[in-house]
This record gives sequence, C-alpha cells and structure tokens, in this order.
Amino acid sequence: MDTGKEIVRFENAGLSYEGAPETLSDISLSLSEGEFRFLTGPSGAGKTSLLKMIYLAHRPTRGRFFLFGEDAMAAPREALPALRRRIGVVFQEFRLLDHLTAFENVALPMKVAGVNQNQYREDVSELLNWVGLGHRMDAKPPTLSGGEKQRVALARSLVSKPDLILADEPTGNVDPAMSERIMKLFVELNKLGASVIVATHDLHLVQSIGKPVLRINDGGVSHSAGAGGAS
Ligand SMILES: Nc1ncnc2c1ncn2[C@@H]1O[C@H](COP(=O)(O)OP(=O)(O)OP(=O)(O)O)[C@@H](O)[C@H]1O
Ligand SMILES: [Mg+2]
Repeated sequence: MDTGKEIVRFENAGLSYEGAPETLSDISLSLSEGEFRFLTGPSGAGKTSLLKMIYLAHRPTRGRFFLFGEDAMAAPREALPALRRRIGVVFQEFRLLDHLTAFENVALPMKVAGVNQNQYREDVSELLNWVGLGHRMDAKPPTLSGGEKQRVALARSLVSKPDLILADEPTGNVDPAMSERIMKLFVELNKLGASVIVATHDLHLVQSIGKPVLRINDGGVSHSAGAGGAS
C-alpha cells in the first residue's frame, strides 16, 4: 500500500562523527506511507547510522532530512519527542532493562507515555505470545537467551503501534524458523499500514520476502526494486 504521503526524506544528507571523514556522504532517499524497504550493505557501511538519523538520535551533519513531512533539521528540540513516539525501533543491541521482567520491558513505552495498564496488558501479552515468549513473561533479561532478548526487544518496539518501524538486524540471533516468523510479522504490520525499514545481512531472507532494497556502500545509497540479490 503506497498512499503517497512521505514518511522519510533525505536530500544529499551526510553524517560525520566528531570531525571524522563522513560515514554517510550522499544519502538521498524517500520512504512513503505503507512502504517496506530492506537496508543492506557491508558491516561498517552505515546502516545503523542511517537508522539513527531517522529516529533522531543523530542529526545529519549536512543536507536535508524530513520526518513525517516535517523538516527535522529545523524542528525545535521540543518537537522531537512527538515525532520519535511515532517510530518503533528494534535496536541492534536490544537495550533491555535487566531489572525489569520481559513483560515490564515490553510495557515500558506505554507506561512512560502514561497509559493505564488496563489498556495495554492484553497487547503486551499478545505480542509476547506471538514471538513465542508467553511462558517467559516474568523472566528478566539476564536469564534469557540472545534470541529471546531480541524477541522481547521486538515486542517492545511494536507495543505502541508505531507508524514507522525501524529494525536493525532483528533476526541476527534467532533460528531460521523464528527469522521467517519475525519477517512475516513485519510484512503483516506493513499491510496494516506501517512503514518498515529492516537492516539486515540476511540476503536469503531479503530474497524470500521480495521487498525493495536500499544498499549502503561508500557513503551513498543505491536502490534496487525487487528480490534483493546484490549483497
Ligand atoms: N558513535 C560513533 N562515533 C564514531 N564513529 C561511529 C559511531 N557509530 C558508528 N561509527 C562508525 O561509523 C561507521 C558505520 O557504523 P554503523 O554502525 O552505522 O555500520 P553498520 O552498517 O550498521 O554496520 P554493522 O553491519 O556491523 O552493524 C563505522 O565505521 C563505525 O565505526
Ligand atoms: Mg549496524
């Protein structure tokens, strides 16, 4: 479903970390409502850096960047949290809180937003069941496997029903059957209207899902339409 409304737009954007040569030097891309993109490229190419610019953790050091139609480079700092709340992020390194249970970790974004537990308890359980962790809701992250933590992080990113889902290697720690299940979940959420960007090294998965691919290399981004192929 492409309704045409632009969610993300970069125009000749660059990012350099603290005076180092630019990690990303020439990013131009646009993602519209309801679109799905894979993000590929070698390790260190800048996939995570690009996702960080999108969720406003890093500002591009040059060029232009629009998020949900707003000029994110010109937006005042106070306007950023509202934009960020529309994005669900699955971080490459999970970022779970070790002293909270799986349930509490997933529920955290709702709790922080001041939503009453009655309104999200079922969603949290349903998501945890969906990712195969219904029996581990009361477990704390240090007692979970890497793949289980990844699935908790995934559930947490989805609980607020974001308009834009950014997933950084969401299948890096799970077995092939679970990878496929997770990817199908993204495809389902995309069908329901969410825009999705998934950074991954798993080209087999990219090919099996058959969504367009953005490939980052040498600081720039190239587009390919179909079932992946290029690594
Ligand atoms: N906070 C930072 N400060 C300085 N350099 C950074 C920082 N974050 C990333 N980099 C550098 O920017 C480059 C791109 O890193 P990034 O994490 O975006 O790559 P990636 O494509 O996600 O790699 P991977 O596939 O290994 O996850 C790397 O050379 C990295 O060392
Ligand atoms: Mg990365």
